[in-house]
Amino acid sequence: MKGGHNGNNSLRAARSAIVFVLCYLVLLAAILLMIFINNPSGWTEYMRNNISGVLSLIVCTFLLCCILYYYFYFEDRDFIFAARNVAFLFSLFILVIVICYVFGRFVDIYARPFALIALLSVFLFNRRQAILFNFVFALMMFLIDTYTNNFSIVGATNEMYYSLVLCFVCGTLSVFVAGGIKTRGGLIAAGVIVAIPTLAIILLFGLPAFGDGGWKRELTSAAWGVLGSFVSSVLALALMPVFERMYNCLTVFRLRELTRTDASLLMRLKTEAPGTFNHSLIVAQLAETCALALGENAELARACAYYHDVGKLKQPDCFTENQTDYNIHDELTPELSADIIRSHAKDGYDLLIANRMPQVFADVALEHHGTMPIKYFYAKAMKLSGGDADVKDYSYLGPTPHTKVAAIVMIADSAEAAVRSLKERTPETVEKVVRSLIEERMDLDQFADCDVTMRDLTTIRETLVAALSGVHHHRVEYPAIRFNRGGSVDE
Ligand SMILES: [Fe+2]
Ligand SMILES: [Fe+2]
Repeated sequence: MKGGHNGNNSLRAARSAIVFVLCYLVLLAAILLMIFINNPSGWTEYMRNNISGVLSLIVCTFLLCCILYYYFYFEDRDFIFAARNVAFLFSLFILVIVICYVFGRFVDIYARPFALIALLSVFLFNRRQAILFNFVFALMMFLIDTYTNNFSIVGATNEMYYSLVLCFVCGTLSVFVAGGIKTRGGLIAAGVIVAIPTLAIILLFGLPAFGDGGWKRELTSAAWGVLGSFVSSVLALALMPVFERMYNCLTVFRLRELTRTDASLLMRLKTEAPGTFNHSLIVAQLAETCALALGENAELARACAYYHDVGKLKQPDCFTENQTDYNIHDELTPELSADIIRSHAKDGYDLLIANRMPQVFADVALEHHGTMPIKYFYAKAMKLSGGDADVKDYSYLGPTPHTKVAAIVMIADSAEAAVRSLKERTPETVEKVVRSLIEERMDLDQFADCDVTMRDLTTIRETLVAALSGVHHHRVEYPAIRFNRGGSVDE
């Protein structure tokens, strides 16, 4: 089994290495195209005279790409072994390099969107990776500026160094500024904030030239710099959805869009299975609170919880929360009932994949009951058959949760359902129920495939008890008086 897994991994690694080389060749082609565009008539001569520089460029950009690959090789091997993600990384870099080249060559070097790669990667990846990408990008752009005939022809050699500094400073700063942003408007505000240091740096660089009447040129550069900061955030806004869709990746913006209750699947849930919809809303809140307490991605946990039961859309009336008086299961054998109930995990998975929803939503839908038995129908079968029923026929098919978020949704889901059926909801009774359902899942190895720790489980339990004792609090009984139109009061 292990050998098979390794074999599969080396196949993936080989495929991702091949895509890496192919993508690098595309980057190289883009760089050569720049040399050609810079001087269409004399580019061969440039190459001949500067062969060592061009070779240095080829080797150094390759090494920089390797740094990126090796970072993921040690940090997130699973990510980089997927050939698609290698293409994702390269398309991000190549696109931003081309954009910066076009701005530097045809507009003004200071109008370059210096913060673009940082802004895109802080949302598409995370802060740590955004800082690394920004550093690698700054060096790569500097090498391209140095060893192509990009600025040697225009004669703006000093600006190349300024461009490097601006890339480092503004990019890194925008990672810090944009890291906590959750709205598209906030991203534009980040552009305004990044414009301030850009302006300061350009003016400081230009200070020596101010006296010689060069102030006009310096002020123009500063204006370009401010514009470049805006261009960074506007382009980040425009390009983000393209990457989100192309590589089906999740940014905080996409997560928010998908959890708006007018998103199409949630709309269906609301109208066709209102009970499930309400249940999902509460589970989403609980999962979000637990994820926050664990330092996990709260937006992701919330979104996954919204969609965890969409499989119930196939037969909404078969689930208690959507039933009124009539219960279809009274007419079915327990075996058939259990089959209908357990299929909602797989149905949810299929529905989410068919709707091109993020893979992680589908995984959580599939895993949220793990391999737990469906107690009600197992007990019914035992009773009807006189104790001759196999618990496997009355259990969910799994798999068990593979991520912390899936484990959180699993526990929050069962806690919501269990506490709902409690007659007396005090912190003590809620604690007892939540504790027992977590212990039951531990006994049945439901967390064997995910890295949730004992401490995490304790935190989840405490968070759920606090939240559920609050959610289900009893209202103060209203006094039985009724006002009538005349203003008098009936008792
Ligand atoms: Fe479920
Ligand atoms: Fe559920």
